[in-house]
Amino acid sequence: MSVHTLAVRCRNIVKVYETGGQKVTALDGIDLDIATGELMMLVGPSGCGKTTLISVIAGILDQDEGSCEVFGKDLAAMSDQKKLAFRASHIGFVFQAFNLLPSLTATENVSVPLLINGVKRVEAERRANSILEEVGLGDRTTSLPAQLSGGQQQRVAIARALIHDPGLIVCDEPTSALDHETGHTIMQLLKSTVLQANRALVIVTHDSRIFDFADRTAKMDDGRILKIM
Ligand SMILES: Nc1ncnc2c1ncn2[C@@H]1O[C@H](COP(=O)(O)OP(=O)(O)O)[C@@H](O)[C@H]1O
Ligand SMILES: [Mg+2]
Repeated sequence: MSVHTLAVRCRNIVKVYETGGQKVTALDGIDLDIATGELMMLVGPSGCGKTTLISVIAGILDQDEGSCEVFGKDLAAMSDQKKLAFRASHIGFVFQAFNLLPSLTATENVSVPLLINGVKRVEAERRANSILEEVGLGDRTTSLPAQLSGGQQQRVAIARALIHDPGLIVCDEPTSALDHETGHTIMQLLKSTVLQANRALVIVTHDSRIFDFADRTAKMDDGRILKIM
């Protein structure tokens, strides 16, 4: 893996959604390179295609046209099983709606990526508790998602995206439910994990308070990247 300094390489990505006979072109020819060691922010108005783009990058959604490689691998060409395994070891994803499993405690939710990778439960939960401590939730490890505030759930989701040391971390609005100080702490944690291990980080955000953390910012509108700053 380490021979690739390019974490993400998108070429002419097109994605069209069809609902009830209506076609919506969510991505209309996206070219984007993201290097390792880089924090790339994606900004743009609601509905411009940000979530769709990071879903394609993370292999959650297949594009209709174009190619997207992550660490030199074309996820759309993989079998479902291969893709799951690749995502489990190389990608951490923070969903806009957090997507925590409601019947699992914070510790158990954060442990999931390690369990998928074959780490023993005791060790997985030890590491989960340690990263929950880092995101300021050391005292909420046994709480279920419903017992946590939105901001606390968001931090559990971020801990879950980091725990398996993925090379690519993708976050959809990771500070939307956080107050200024907590958002800042979380961004520092994300940024330091990228710098330390030469990972790549893609962050979709509306939050102008965190814009300064970006190495580059891609401005999107109407399924296109207008400019990269
Ligand atoms: N599952 C879906 N089915 C149909 N249309 C969708 C779906 N997801 C997104 N869209 C449409 O695609 C466009 C881009 O959406 P999205 O990627 O969610 O934008 P953003 O994250 O920038 O708000 C929007 O017009 C949205 O309505
Ligand atoms: Mg979105």
